[in-house]
Amino acid sequence: MKIKTARAVKGEIAPPGDKSISHRAAMFAALAEGTTQIENFATSADCASTVSCLRTLGVEIEGSGIAFKVLGLGKTGFGQPKTALDCGNSGTTMRLMSGILAGQNFESTLTGDESLRSRPMKRVVDPLEKMGARFSHQDFRAPLTIAGVNPLNAINYELPVASAQIKSAVLLAGLNSDGMTSVIEHTQTRDHTERMLEWFGVEVTKASTGDGGWKISVAGDSKLAARDITVPGDISSAAFFAVAAACLSESDILLKNIGLNTSRAGVVDVLQDLGADVEIVDRREICNEPVGDLRVTGRRDLGDISELTVLKGAVIPNIIDEIPILAVLGTQLGGGLEIRDAAELRVKESDRIAVVVKNLKIMGAEVEEFPDGLRVGRSQLHGGVIDSYGDHRIAMAFAVAGLLASGETEISRAEAVDVSFPGFFDELEGIVVR
Ligand code: S3P
Repeated sequence: MKIKTARAVKGEIAPPGDKSISHRAAMFAALAEGTTQIENFATSADCASTVSCLRTLGVEIEGSGIAFKVLGLGKTGFGQPKTALDCGNSGTTMRLMSGILAGQNFESTLTGDESLRSRPMKRVVDPLEKMGARFSHQDFRAPLTIAGVNPLNAINYELPVASAQIKSAVLLAGLNSDGMTSVIEHTQTRDHTERMLEWFGVEVTKASTGDGGWKISVAGDSKLAARDITVPGDISSAAFFAVAAACLSESDILLKNIGLNTSRAGVVDVLQDLGADVEIVDRREICNEPVGDLRVTGRRDLGDISELTVLKGAVIPNIIDEIPILAVLGTQLGGGLEIRDAAELRVKESDRIAVVVKNLKIMGAEVEEFPDGLRVGRSQLHGGVIDSYGDHRIAMAFAVAGLLASGETEISRAEAVDVSFPGFFDELEGIVVR
């Protein structure tokens, strides 16, 4: 994919349905009793992997594209799969499905592509084995074979890393446990699971730990009741356009129907704190998730911010997927940008710290790598040949870098965008002014 310098971005975009919420909608609908209609389901390849795993478990799912009808089987109604469940590139599919499969009375195997098979799964194996399930694996990497049991032991589990995927896996297993299962997180992570379980009628108790964290509990005898659901647009996809607009001075874009859950939409706060012109229009709630439209212009010159901007600590989980595009934004800030406490980025679809640093350097940025982050100085970017390393968010972040750079930027393995945002390049081309 070749990207040329842009003067501005202008127009309106409604990004695809949220990836995190779509995974949960399909899984929870399958666990529910009754039929759930899902609208604005993510077009992402990752969410198609979740649908395909559920179908392999015997769940009838009608429809395609962005609308699906799921005939729920209840918490233990799945059939033993005859083949391995292929999660593709999707960590969320593998980790959340582990929690569901741990509480089924059969053996099943989860696998995925080369990237997913290299990612750490000990983080879900440990708590789920404490609950009584048994896993076979090579060095805690997929393929994972799970010997499920029902009921599982209810546990209190303190998250070793701030991860919504681990939290969700344990809570989903807790729905098939013999008591009250609790997860303690000292840093708030995205709470889509808690909100959607409530949407499906499950009582979720949430108590403050007094340090900004939460103890979240579900009872093993909870039942999910089918309920139609509409998925908000994906803030993580909107972020690429929002940053492009904030950086290109003549820009004016409207991003429609964006999920604005505060445990997830930290990128909006970061942009607003920098003084970027980001306005939230028509705040509303859809299926227990806050939503609004975002109007972003390039009116504010971010180049005249003279101090170094530092992002670290509790905000990191709320912007975790937006850090590659925020690093690109950092090249436009007068004082540059430092990101810390983000070592988790090293175990995403690629080592996002290493890959962002490498690609920014190719484009002429002044950048330093740390074990848990990076620092980038204000830089005049120039075009270059960039590799996405098969990582969707790297491909999209560097497409935006290409708009800001002089000359032409070539992104190899650009088709990776399909993992979360098929059609991304067409949408981008549709709003670019040269
Ligand atoms: C996700 C949680 C985050 C995020 C991922 C989706 C989720 O991962 O990076 O893209 O849907 O729960 P971790 O929970 O591993 O931080």
